[in-house]
Amino acid sequence: MEAKSVILRNVTKAFPGSIQKQVNAVSDVNLVIEAGQFATLLGPSGCGKTTTLRMIAGFEDITTGDVLFGDSRVNDIPPNKRDCTMVFQSYALFPHLNVLDNISYGLKIKKMSKANIEKKVNKVLTVMNLNDYKERMPAQMSGGQQQRVALARALVMEPSVLLFDEPLSNLDAKLRLVMRDEIRRIQKELGITAVYVTHDQSEAMSMSDQIIVMNKGRIEQIGSPQDIYQRPQTKFVADFIGTANFVEGHVLDIQADRLQLHTPLGEITAIKHGEFTKGQRVTLVMRPESIVITQDKRNVARVTKSVFMGQTQEYEIELDDHSFQVTISNPMGLRGHQVGDLVSLDFPEQAIHVIPA
Ligand SMILES: Nc1ncnc2c1ncn2[C@@H]1O[C@H](COP(=O)(O)OP(=O)(O)OP(=O)(O)O)[C@@H](O)[C@H]1O
Ligand SMILES: [Mg+2]
Repeated sequence: MEAKSVILRNVTKAFPGSIQKQVNAVSDVNLVIEAGQFATLLGPSGCGKTTTLRMIAGFEDITTGDVLFGDSRVNDIPPNKRDCTMVFQSYALFPHLNVLDNISYGLKIKKMSKANIEKKVNKVLTVMNLNDYKERMPAQMSGGQQQRVALARALVMEPSVLLFDEPLSNLDAKLRLVMRDEIRRIQKELGITAVYVTHDQSEAMSMSDQIIVMNKGRIEQIGSPQDIYQRPQTKFVADFIGTANFVEGHVLDIQADRLQLHTPLGEITAIKHGEFTKGQRVTLVMRPESIVITQDKRNVARVTKSVFMGQTQEYEIELDDHSFQVTISNPMGLRGHQVGDLVSLDFPEQAIHVIPA
């Protein structure tokens, strides 16, 4: 198997009926996923993730634009000839076939020799830790085991491109964590290009080389997990990934690598990323874990909510009519602040990310 890049050029999908509403399910999507990369389409329900994936797979016609695998345009190639396989949320195993036959099915259709099938299936059974389950019927297995079979069935085809549509959402939280690692490990080991759909941001963060954040059929931002979290380009991305505090302001002055900002909280200095102009309206994005609670009396803020979460203590703190989410990690042994306590908030410059308003 040889991994291939997946390229989308100006891809649009208009479903019949959606034309009247002037909203396309997918609008003018441009995307390059390098061979061997793990890319995740992330976004809220209805933003066009599944539709995009189904166009890559060939289950859905492309209204305008092109989909390429490597150098070849695949728009008119049927799904079974595209050299990609898809793993579904529902597993979609054949209920009347045991594990071995489920996994062998696609190779038999391809008319591969018995010896060859056996060799490939045995390898996948081992990789997926399924050797003890060969004879089992899907109904006799847990959700996690069935999902491993579904994954094995896709892997045995040795596709250049592996597509996943929320494959873990039927599993419990613990198993989801295990399967994340498993999928990522196998994808790396085999060097397959993977396109993964989820609306679970921690899943996207933990698995991906590249995250593609979608909103209303369009791409909002493409970047590494760090980029997306630390340098969101829009308010939507900042809000969708993690928790964000927003403060509106404008640019007072620009130095080489710093911005001087006027905000309702007073003058604030931030590190400059990107181009800004004097007077420009901006939004300051601050993550809850980057704001510091201090005891000095510079700006008096009041704790309005305090929740112990085990690994963290989460506060809501009011300062000048602004309510801030602030998270303290490792609250072990700390008494913590109580509702009504007066504290002070500090906004270190590296805690502030500035985006155009
Ligand atoms: N067959 C269809 N006919 C008409 N509209 C459709 C069809 N399939 C999807 N849509 C619409 O296209 C948009 C995108 O749907 P899509 O299934 O791609 O979203 P999604 O991001 O996968 O959402 P979810 O997270 O809920 O699975 C939605 O507005 C949906 O209603
Ligand atoms: Mg979907």
